[in-house]
Amino acid sequence: MPGVIHRLTLILLGRSPGRMSAWHSSGPRYYSLAAALVILSFSTGEMPVPRQIEVRQTMERGSRVYRQACAMCHGETGAGRLPFGPALAGSSWLLGCPPEHLPAIILDGVCGPIPGSSAPYPVMPALRTWLQDQQVADVSTYVFRRWAHRSDSLLPKVSALLRQRTPARAVPWRIEELNKSLPRRTPQPAFQPF
Ligand code: HEC
Repeated sequence: MPGVIHRLTLILLGRSPGRMSAWHSSGPRYYSLAAALVILSFSTGEMPVPRQIEVRQTMERGSRVYRQACAMCHGETGAGRLPFGPALAGSSWLLGCPPEHLPAIILDGVCGPIPGSSAPYPVMPALRTWLQDQQVADVSTYVFRRWAHRSDSLLPKVSALLRQRTPARAVPWRIEELNKSLPRRTPQPAFQPF
């Protein structure tokens, strides 16, 4: 019953003051009914989720993925864990890379040197068979916001497109190769809405 709850909520909330007085007389019951319908219409997906709530939910999901899939090498606080992985906090590459380069290295791994990173590190392994597109998108958004103060919101479809574009890469990305294959202004329309 698409939209029914939403419409009912709007009818209840939009009653003219005169007509509402009848409802008023029924006291808090009116308000609790309206509140329940607002909550119900959110939970059934009939009302768009406000942007701030959406971002908070993405950050919560991204943080979970980070703890499960990244923290063992990059540290819980992003400070890095020698010798497994470099710090993400303060990474100059993360500050300036085109947004889709982060999901690309999560899917297929990366082999340094990474510009701005001093110590030599081992190769970052490909996580494409381990993570789903939603998880890749959530953790990318989380990493950008938490450590690079960037508001790029990565969508699952970007991860899906990258998977199709580079099916089963046998070797991890090198940064020069990434810059050539996925230049900053990628012509495909699907890559543009960042
Ligand atoms: C098994 C260890 C390991 C795991 C798991 C791992 N990484 Fe990495 N990551 C590395 C290593 C090692 C490098 C550096 C590669 C190099 O310099 O050759 C790296 C590099 C990076 C960089 C570039 C860092 C820089 O210097 O700018 C980012 C960003 C990154 N990883 C994000 C992630 C995210 C997000 C996850 C989880 C989804 C993740 N990594 C999971 C080991 C790991």
